[in-house]
Amino acid sequence: MRKRYLLIAAVAVMATLFLAVGIYAGTEVKDEIKMENKAYDKHTKSVQTFTHLKHAKEYAEKHPDLYKKGCGECHHDKDNKPLTQLKEGDEVQNCIECHKKPGYIKGKEAKGLTKEQKREYHANAIHDNCKACHKKFNKKMKLKSKDEGAAPVTCKQCHPKKK
Ligand code: HEC
Ligand code: HEC
Ligand code: HEC
Ligand code: HEC
Repeated sequence: MRKRYLLIAAVAVMATLFLAVGIYAGTEVKDEIKMENKAYDKHTKSVQTFTHLKHAKEYAEKHPDLYKKGCGECHHDKDNKPLTQLKEGDEVQNCIECHKKPGYIKGKEAKGLTKEQKREYHANAIHDNCKACHKKFNKKMKLKSKDEGAAPVTCKQCHPKKK
């Protein structure tokens, strides 16, 4: 009997740990990440599938000038210090842990807020990160339209209309 309780307790502990990690952090470098953060009540825009592995390896190898900080181009610590030495197997905190407010603030609502205050919103932090590098890439490659192979910078390119 006693053994059985221990087993149940162990399973419960493991399940809790698994859940906690699932919500807040991951260690695996996934091929693709469906950017549909669960902290949101609902997504108003279509969901982006982010090609994480391509971004972390292929694009980084092709464009070292855009990836001076390696993984740290996107991952940083609580002081915004780039995690340049990050590797697969390390625990990575999700953006939402620090850029805590689910949603995107812009226009009238965002008036008077500093960049940092806007980046408390999860989508603003994500957008700032993605767009900054894409703009540099497009400029460097002299690419204008998506057909030419430009990296996405407009709303519709990343959030095509829901069908
Ligand atoms: C480089 C791709 C990219 C571009 C460009 C982009 N977004 Fe996003 N957007 C994302 C990603 C990724 C998320 C994060 C969604 C998540 O993790 O849940 C997001 C989140 C959002 C959200 C919050 C989630 C939701 O569905 O309600 C809104 C609103 C949004 N974007 C609107 C816009 C608007 C408006 C523009 C243009 C001004 C824009 N985005 C440009 C990729 C992009
Ligand atoms: C171009 C930006 C970018 C680069 C470069 C990048 N990542 Fe990520 N990574 C992300 C984003 C965005 C997420 C999703 C985070 C979230 O959902 O909050 C993520 C998530 C992760 C996760 C967690 C997956 C999960 O299950 O939650 C790990 C681990 C990770 N990255 C490791 C790495 C490592 C190691 C490198 C370098 C080899 C790297 N990343 C490079 C943007 C990037
Ligand atoms: C451990 C906390 C933490 C995590 C996790 C985190 N950030 Fe940040 N981030 C910060 C802090 C603190 C700053 C500095 C304040 C600011 O500029 O908004 C910052 C700044 C930024 C900036 C501005 C960078 C600059 O130097 O101009 C962007 C863009 C950003 N974060 C995007 C992200 C994305 C995307 C993720 C997930 C892949 C992420 N952050 C994960 C804490 C965090
Ligand atoms: C450090 C630079 C960098 C950052 C940061 C970055 N990207 Fe990219 N991204 C690229 C490059 C370079 C390309 C074009 C690659 C090519 O065409 O060879 C690209 C292309 C893309 C594409 C089209 C091709 C594909 O792989 O799907 C999407 C969609 C995309 N990025 C989404 C995102 C999102 C979402 C984010 C933010 C979470 C992001 N990117 C952040 C460098 C970056």
